[in-house]
Amino acid sequence: MTGATPATKFQPRIFSGIQPSGGLTLGNYLGALKRFVEKQDEGVETVYCLVDMHAITIWQEPRKLRHATREMAAGFIAAGIDPEKSILFNQSQVSAHAELAWIFNCVARVGWMNRMTQFKDKAGKDKEAASLGLYAYPALMAADILAYHATHVPVGEDQRQHLELTRDIAIKFNHDYETDFFPVTEPLIEGAAARVMSLRDGTRKMSKSDPSDQSRINLTDDADAIAQKIRKARTDPEPLPETLDGLADRAEARNLVNIYAALANVAPEQVLAEFAGQGFGVFKPKLADLAVSSLSPISARMQDLMQDVTEIDRLLGRGADRAEAIATPIMERCYEIVGMVRSRR
Ligand code: TYM
Repeated sequence: MTGATPATKFQPRIFSGIQPSGGLTLGNYLGALKRFVEKQDEGVETVYCLVDMHAITIWQEPRKLRHATREMAAGFIAAGIDPEKSILFNQSQVSAHAELAWIFNCVARVGWMNRMTQFKDKAGKDKEAASLGLYAYPALMAADILAYHATHVPVGEDQRQHLELTRDIAIKFNHDYETDFFPVTEPLIEGAAARVMSLRDGTRKMSKSDPSDQSRINLTDDADAIAQKIRKARTDPEPLPETLDGLADRAEARNLVNIYAALANVAPEQVLAEFAGQGFGVFKPKLADLAVSSLSPISARMQDLMQDVTEIDRLLGRGADRAEAIATPIMERCYEIVGMVRSRR
């Protein structure tokens, strides 16, 4: 793992989460899920959470939320998460998340929350009408991570500010209570796909909440839809350059090169070495083939797994039991540190 680990007394543990507020996009897959699978196979304990309580900070139709949670669990397994090796569960099944979030609501400062750009983006113009949960969201995210004393968190670039806040919360808690109880977590933001951009606008990130379905590739898209979206992706008329510098002012071209690199597990420079001088008429069909051959087996397996929802629920329940076994003693100690009387044991 990269980055200095400030918290030597904590055993390395990876935690990350994804909101089941819709399907998985290529951005989620390349920026997060594909990397979760790589981390799982590096021998460190990995805890992955479908954060359904984060999802409801924005209105979710209950039936759709339940479906999306199960489908996302199927997507994780189809992409290579082994529910024996990794702990895979949904957030609401482990009460430690909500409990620790409350304590962190009392540690984090209003001024810190006011600086969160994601709240500003998601709340839009009418901030008064946003849910209180959306505002407090980053404290719940810190709780997700710190309830497991996680030391490393793989995420895409858009989560950087939330992870800095997580570090600030851990530091302030440790300072206020004169302890070194919580680790100061390291974000793992790596690779060509840390920020996958919209296929329609290279200045916006690919997102499940973008109103245009043409802007993103969904893991559930079939081969024709994937090929069609890539063919129609916005680009420019220039051929691909020889070096990355040549992509500096070409956000859309840069994005497609990054996507190709991440899918092929190579550096963007290597993609340019192969395609320099070629136009998008050549590059796009190659990218479409690569995307289809990488994603189709995942979406086929996902559909298969969704035939047996009872089994998915069983796996999530078992994951939640394992997660709770880690979080419960951490919460007990945390309550003690804070000064709560705990006499029911
Ligand atoms: P969410 O659900 O928006 O996204 C899940 C993960 O996918 C990454 N991602 C992307 N990466 C690259 N390019 C993109 N276009 C792109 N879109 C999404 C995100 O960076 C993220 O890693 N707040 C989090 C969920 C969360 C969490 C946590 C993450 C809750 N608690 C604790 C880590 C640890 C979120 O909304 O992610």
